[in-house]
Amino acid sequence: MENVQKNWGNCFEQIVQTRRAVRKFHPTDYDPNAVTRSLERAHLAPSSSNMQLWEFYRVSQPETMKLLSRFCMRQNTTETAREMIVVVARPDLWRRRAQSNFNFVKENLGDRPAFKGRSALSYYTKLMPILYNNDMFGFRGAIKKVVAWFIGLRRPMVREVTGADIRVVTHKSAALAAQTFMLSMVAEGHDTCPVEGFDSVRVKRLLNLPRRAEINMVITCGKRIPEGIYGPRFRVPLSEVVFQR
Ligand SMILES: Cc1cc2nc3c(=O)[nH]c(=O)nc-3n(C[C@H](O)[C@H](O)[C@H](O)COP(=O)(O)O)c2cc1C
Repeated sequence: MENVQKNWGNCFEQIVQTRRAVRKFHPTDYDPNAVTRSLERAHLAPSSSNMQLWEFYRVSQPETMKLLSRFCMRQNTTETAREMIVVVARPDLWRRRAQSNFNFVKENLGDRPAFKGRSALSYYTKLMPILYNNDMFGFRGAIKKVVAWFIGLRRPMVREVTGADIRVVTHKSAALAAQTFMLSMVAEGHDTCPVEGFDSVRVKRLLNLPRRAEINMVITCGKRIPEGIYGPRFRVPLSEVVFQR
């Protein structure tokens, strides 16, 4: 097992070192099955409360690709991509996802002695509605913020309870899935580039998404050509971002 894990470490190191934001892709060399498998892996990414409030739209039809690239300001990476994945955060699907979790817990875990099935069930029937059910004007969020503040005077309390906070929560989880996808694509011998330079209104309209859906990022897919990497990788020193407390 130790040897296997050492190998995993080496493989993962290689994948992380190889992944780059690729801005120019090979015109023909491409396997869409790599995307299929990578989406299956992205689907296993962790998500807040396991709510999985994400969706992945595969865009590969030439006409739709052209429009999507236009809405991404015709960046090199979108102009040469063989396929694009639009990662979408769906905070509006919270009821459906809470219900799916509830059903799963009830059917699979409820009678496990070591598992507090009941509290897990009320987590999805009581806590999730409190967190996710927000109005357009932020009244509920303001009330929840004040309540959280009062509770927080006496004991540790989650403070991120408003509608805006929930948007961040869903985008965080969607981005973890996006990163899982991108690393998997490298493991498949392919490349990607995350893109957030896009016109979200137009992209939403193109995909026929509802009002409350939010584009998390667009991910271009293909295989790199040497000019697709714009230069050596730059990172600030580790000492500027890693701290010990
Ligand atoms: C959320 C996000 C949005 C990004 N948006 C764009 C973009 O619109 N266009 C682009 O060419 N690169 C984009 N990038 C790629 C970054 O510029 C790139 O990851 C960074 O320069 C580091 O380079 P590396 O990924 O090759 O290590 C984005 C990256 C992230 C994480």
